[in-house]
Amino acid sequence: MRNDWFAKELEKYSKLAGYKKPEKHSNVIKLDSNENYAVSDEFLKKMINEAKENMDVREYPLGGTERLVQDISKYIGIPKEMIGVGNGSDQIIDLFLSNFTSKDTKILTSDPTFGFFEERCKLYSIPTIKIPFDKNMTLNLEKFLSNSKKASILYLDTPNNPTGFRFEKRDLERLIREFKGLVIMDEAYVEFSDYSIVEMTKKTNNLIVLRTLSKSFGLAGLRVGYFVANERIIDTFTRVIQYPYPLNTLAIEVGIMALRQSKYFADVANLVKKERSRIITNLQQMKIFEVFDSKANFVLFAAGGSSQRIYKALIEQGISIKNLGKVGPHEGCLRVTVGSQDMNSKFLTAIRDLLN
Ligand SMILES: Cc1ncc(COP(=O)(O)O)c(C=O)c1O
Repeated sequence: MRNDWFAKELEKYSKLAGYKKPEKHSNVIKLDSNENYAVSDEFLKKMINEAKENMDVREYPLGGTERLVQDISKYIGIPKEMIGVGNGSDQIIDLFLSNFTSKDTKILTSDPTFGFFEERCKLYSIPTIKIPFDKNMTLNLEKFLSNSKKASILYLDTPNNPTGFRFEKRDLERLIREFKGLVIMDEAYVEFSDYSIVEMTKKTNNLIVLRTLSKSFGLAGLRVGYFVANERIIDTFTRVIQYPYPLNTLAIEVGIMALRQSKYFADVANLVKKERSRIITNLQQMKIFEVFDSKANFVLFAAGGSSQRIYKALIEQGISIKNLGKVGPHEGCLRVTVGSQDMNSKFLTAIRDLLN
């Protein structure tokens, strides 16, 4: 009997699609996962080598996340009591959803939103109200406001993955102020944008802001995420919900060193923003794509019926971008990550050659 119960549960879960990881192509310029190749590999390797000297992996990282939190606190100007960490912001999302929701919790979000978040909602059978992107790949604030009473959690990635859209600051502040349930704002790409709402956490008890070192710090492989919220949420999360050693020693030590060199990473983020403009302008000049504005380290463009051909031809040229299909009302959407200057130039040349 008991086995029967488990078999049924397993059958139910096995039918879910799960998070679809990008295809792994070898020896390609990888512009498909919003990683940050504008950060110098040598710079990171040097930091990792230095970090290795100061650690002993035979020990559990006791006190490690506390030290990391202190440096995050300096970096964002928020008291350390208001900061928690996770094994990537993915894990923080997962722990909040798995512990604080049920089938009766409705989540208000955009369509599309961050893919991992959507998949976790499916995994935990959490119903969602999804507000679609419109023709310009923007979201309508009024639609969010009019649905806000029907939901108990509001989740937005701001800027949004995969569109690059973010609300104007005053609009987002208004939405957060008016939403009475739990508000989760995912600022994974905020360093490439032009404002953060992290300061609002000081006065807003129901607000959680997610951040990560995966994007602007170029440390996706180390899995360092963090979040900002009121002290009570942080205390409960870190003491009861989070497991005692969520981050490994190397991630902690390199994370600390990276935060202490935040000026370098801020300069890289500025370069990425310039390169993003170059990519947008160049794609627009090709006159066959609909190119959308972006505040993140990627650019979304609609190629209609040509998208599959372009995607495949780029792979043959050794360049991997993300093939998303329909996004909002637009068919054949492709998303390209902003890489190093050289990578971006290769992408632009390849796509120009394809069209000639
Ligand atoms: C909106 C958003 N949030 C979170 C993440 C994942 O962040 P992390 O690497 O910290 O788990 C991503 C990664 O693509 C993302 O697009």
